Amino acid sequence: MSKGICILAYSGGLDTSVCIRWIIENYNLDVIACLVEVGQEQDENVEFIAAKALQIGAIESLVLDARDEFAQEYVALSLMTNGMYENKYPLVSALSRPLISKRLVEIAQQKGASYIAHGCTGKGNDQVRFENSIAALDPTITILGPVREWDLTTREKEMDYAEKFGIPIPTSKKRPYSVDDNMVGRAIECGVLEDPDVAPPEDVYTITQDPKRKDAPDEEIITLSFEGGLPTAINGEAMDMVELIIKLNLITGPHGIGRIDMVENRLIGVKSREIYECPGMMTLITAHKALEELTLERDLMHYKLTLEQEWSRLVYSGMWFSPLKLAIDAFMAQTQTFVTGDIRLSLYRGNCVVVGRTSPYSLYSYGLATYDSADQFNHKAAKGFMELYSLPIKVWSEVQAELHKQADKDSAECSAPSSTTGPTVGKAGKPGGCF
Ligand code: ARG
Repeated sequence: MSKGICILAYSGGLDTSVCIRWIIENYNLDVIACLVEVGQEQDENVEFIAAKALQIGAIESLVLDARDEFAQEYVALSLMTNGMYENKYPLVSALSRPLISKRLVEIAQQKGASYIAHGCTGKGNDQVRFENSIAALDPTITILGPVREWDLTTREKEMDYAEKFGIPIPTSKKRPYSVDDNMVGRAIECGVLEDPDVAPPEDVYTITQDPKRKDAPDEEIITLSFEGGLPTAINGEAMDMVELIIKLNLITGPHGIGRIDMVENRLIGVKSREIYECPGMMTLITAHKALEELTLERDLMHYKLTLEQEWSRLVYSGMWFSPLKLAIDAFMAQTQTFVTGDIRLSLYRGNCVVVGRTSPYSLYSYGLATYDSADQFNHKAAKGFMELYSLPIKVWSEVQAELHKQADKDSAECSAPSSTTGPTVGKAGKPGGCF
């Protein structure tokens, strides 16, 4: 008799395949394997991967297509926010984990399972994202992380375990890297990349091509249309989010756009070197930002920039379902009402450059901006504005001059030589003098 049911986040790779057996053996639980599709490339077809889980001993094996929800709810929010951790990483894995968690919790509730397991290590961010999301959605569920517990610490040990229990080894050729991917892009780590001084070998990339190669494509101009902050068409051809992202990856990847090489601060405190390739998403963010430049009122845009960073940090740190993150979502959605228009981009040798923008809600006024005869700006009003605008800094400067004068006088009277240059603020915040 098993002690209950465990829903396992299953990918078909070696770790989660071994997890199935390990949970049965060590926890005496029935395992339901769950593969959630968020647009990842699969080396083998999903039916085959799902069937393998049954062969290993799962009592059920489910494939859940979450691509639409991923694009419309998760990628969409990130795009409206220009989500970018440490101003550089467009949150590939951080976006998929909360949705995978949501689907796992739904299945757990349907099947009456009180356990959910994931195949994350104890050193990464993904365990935090899974566990925090699951805790937020159903705090009664017990979470298992076999990879953190078992002593199968090398691939060889895992292979031996697999052999012992007749677990089929994934047929995909083992790349020397650890990869996670979805429609937003690919995250690649480990192997030679662990030396931050080594340039990434070309074989880490699969969806972008080397922009330096001799037969790199010529410049290509594309137009992206947005409505309410979300993309709706490429070159005038309307399509839904999933299709648009996939198509944009195919258009921009060959130009080598969206390659990112960074050393990032993981949540658990370790710095790690990561390579990302996100051709479509980086293109969308570039275009979306350009449209916001045109359509957002100044203070709103400046404030949004500060919240973008906070939102990205929260999402990176597994706080997708936290009240603060949800409140910022509402702010972001409100800012997007008039982010509608077309952005023209030039794609060429790794560069994605905005070359044109239009919007029915553009706040750009030619009459106010121009220096030619059509100028409507009131230059005379600027004089009064300058006077009042600089008033506080003028007052400050006058007071400082007075303080310096006083400090110079004091130090001249003092027998010990003291510095008379630079700001002379003393210990108690008083102007410098004899101490
Ligand atoms: N460092 C990235 C993040 O925390 C990517 C992690 C993806 N995992 C992997 N096995 N490459 O979001």
